[in-house]
Amino acid sequence: MRLLLSPLLLAAAAIAQDSPAPPPPSEYQGRVIAQTMHWQGAGWLIRNKREREEGAERMREELRLKPGMTVCDLGSGNGYHTLPMAEKVGPEGRVYAVDIQPEMLEMLKQRAEARMLENIECIINSETDPKIPAGSCDMILLVDVYHEFSHPEEMLAGIRKALKPDGVVVLVEFRAEDESVPIKPEHKMTKAQINKELEHNGFKLAREFDGLPWQHMMFFGLAEK
Ligand SMILES: C[S@@+](CC[C@H](N)C(=O)[O-])C[C@H]1O[C@@H](n2cnc3c(N)ncnc32)[C@H](O)[C@@H]1O
Repeated sequence: MRLLLSPLLLAAAAIAQDSPAPPPPSEYQGRVIAQTMHWQGAGWLIRNKREREEGAERMREELRLKPGMTVCDLGSGNGYHTLPMAEKVGPEGRVYAVDIQPEMLEMLKQRAEARMLENIECIINSETDPKIPAGSCDMILLVDVYHEFSHPEEMLAGIRKALKPDGVVVLVEFRAEDESVPIKPEHKMTKAQINKELEHNGFKLAREFDGLPWQHMMFFGLAEK
């Protein structure tokens, strides 16, 4: 069982929080950085109508996950996507569930135990380091997370290190171009802004899926392998 958490990981979280992070920039590349969604609102992430509103299953189909893959759900929250990802990659595969809020990972751990999933490894990271093992991931998924990074450049550097040479990072972000998407402006992004920030940090757009009701889905590889 790799669902490692308390007390070891909670102690690790305390250490991570002790290490000094540079003061958070409030803007990045002309974009206002959003506040982190608090763990007390985690119920919203597993609301019944989420599947219909976001086309979540369709989104996961587009990931094309296969048994044996090593993937990461970065900013996993309470594991809405982590659990089905773990089922897809199977017992030979692995999912790193990474979040800065230990409370989110505690909830994820309980939900994974109820489904008897043993291929999830929980990691409490810091604002400047995803703490994913180097060169380990075929895919790193960020659903409704990237726009909350207080230190996007440091996090993207960590993501670059964590990917295998042919690995991809997938950003799923609410569409800022579309006023009918009922989400606060700072929690949405335009395609142009996503591209600008990712290219600036050494990534290259590889693929897009435009079939989700509310979100962009953009796949990036490493610009230089
Ligand atoms: C809106 S929730 C989305 C959760 C999940 N991806 C989902 O779709 O259900 C955003 C999550 O990102 C996490 N987060 C924010 N900044 C982070 C960072 N720098 N590193 C890891 N997680 C982060 C928050 O703690 C929160 O759990």
